[in-house]
Amino acid sequence: MAKKKTVYFCDECGFDSVQWLGKCPQCKSWNTFKEMTITAGDKGRRRIKAASRSKEFIKPLSSIKRYEQERILLDHSELDRVLGGGLYPHTTVLLAGEPGIGKSTLLLQACSTVTETYGKNVIYISAEESLEQIRERAQRLGICSDNIYIVQENNFDEFTQHIQDLQPILVVVDSIQAVFDPAVPSSPGTITQVREVAFKLSQMAKEEGFILFLIGHVTKDGVVAGPRTLEHMVDVVVYFEGDRYQSLRLIRTVKNRYGATGEIGVFEMREEGLRHIANPSSIFLPDGENITPGRVTVAVMEGRRPFLVEVQALTNKTSFNNPLRRALGVELNKVSLLLAVIERSLTLNFAGYDVFIKAVGGLKLQEAACDLSLCLAIISSFTMVTISPQIVVIGEVGLGGEIRKVQRLESRIKEAARLGFKQVVVPKKNLKEKLTQDISVREVGTLADAYDLFFEPASRKS
Ligand code: TYD
Ligand code: MG
Repeated sequence: MAKKKTVYFCDECGFDSVQWLGKCPQCKSWNTFKEMTITAGDKGRRRIKAASRSKEFIKPLSSIKRYEQERILLDHSELDRVLGGGLYPHTTVLLAGEPGIGKSTLLLQACSTVTETYGKNVIYISAEESLEQIRERAQRLGICSDNIYIVQENNFDEFTQHIQDLQPILVVVDSIQAVFDPAVPSSPGTITQVREVAFKLSQMAKEEGFILFLIGHVTKDGVVAGPRTLEHMVDVVVYFEGDRYQSLRLIRTVKNRYGATGEIGVFEMREEGLRHIANPSSIFLPDGENITPGRVTVAVMEGRRPFLVEVQALTNKTSFNNPLRRALGVELNKVSLLLAVIERSLTLNFAGYDVFIKAVGGLKLQEAACDLSLCLAIISSFTMVTISPQIVVIGEVGLGGEIRKVQRLESRIKEAARLGFKQVVVPKKNLKEKLTQDISVREVGTLADAYDLFFEPASRKS
């Protein structure tokens, strides 16, 4: 017979224990353990039952068929592209982002496109906003459809029936942190609730064959608050990023069971909703002429697309005992490492200087290919010598000051040429094809070579 068992769950991180604990050993929070009763089945009998069923689940790989369903398109543009060409029905997607970034707007627009394209029902479950607030947003976006059903409800039990009745093609839950299951003795928004509801909904999506979007809020530092713990339970994880006070928005897939990750989609938040940006590779370049020192342009790859981004550096005499190192959009470790390489290779000394780094436009530069541009930006600010705005710099810098090869150099150069740049500085022997574009290519083998291209060679003690 099934036995009832009491377990204790941490509300912050979901850690479980057979006894109540004051402090969670995993996330170190105090007073977060909640009691829960679960039904433990008879293990022996379950094993026998599983063995008799297992034949259905074991198959040679070659006999398994591919999906025959068509992918459903959500916006006929950036969102579909980032997802690898739309989504299969029964997929669960987590859309995570900071509050106010535009998650509700993006998905309301997707609801509208889906109903227009396929003429089927979609359900938008609003657990946070009132019907009037959604109506207001829809009006702004110019959306009005008989097939979009809005449910204002936080109770999981209440809206499951609507899903069964309306047979939707798409269901949006806004947000997963605000929905609760009355069967779970934990308050809404806690990890236990979020996980339980997300699991039940994704099972339902698989059985009924609809696309499920779960909206999740992320805190400013990008962790905890729920969604992170859901990432392993869903098929696709999409991050919605950008600066709330600027109009640029980026979507990025970090997990996709049905396609590639690493692609980014670029949108602009306008008065009348999100619009895709048709030609995004130059949006991270500032307008106007570059005339101050410390500014260099780099071509980075985001997925398969090259983007040209300006990196900026500022070196100032410090007024502290320990000089400051600060970076926006670039990892601080990388900055320290590159400073050490510059100091060693070029015998410049930053000991008495604060160093600030920034990637313009809010893009996060993670690629090693931007190392050389960062180094040159730092040196440019340090020596007060400007680098022409018509030059693009690409290359990874090794600890010995050597310039290492980067991937997809040709497509980066092509994009730079297309946008009217006149010269590109690249690692030695990195080019595989002959270029047809009208752009001059300068190859550099070491950081010292690159230094000599732009700065007074005599000023460097070697
Ligand atoms: P919202 O989609 O509510 O963000 P989230 O669901 O991520 O919290 O929208 C966020 C902001 O976008 C809101 O402050 C107003 C702005 N906005 C526009 O600029 N234009 C629009 O058409 C809409 C609907 C919103
Ligand atoms: Mg919202």
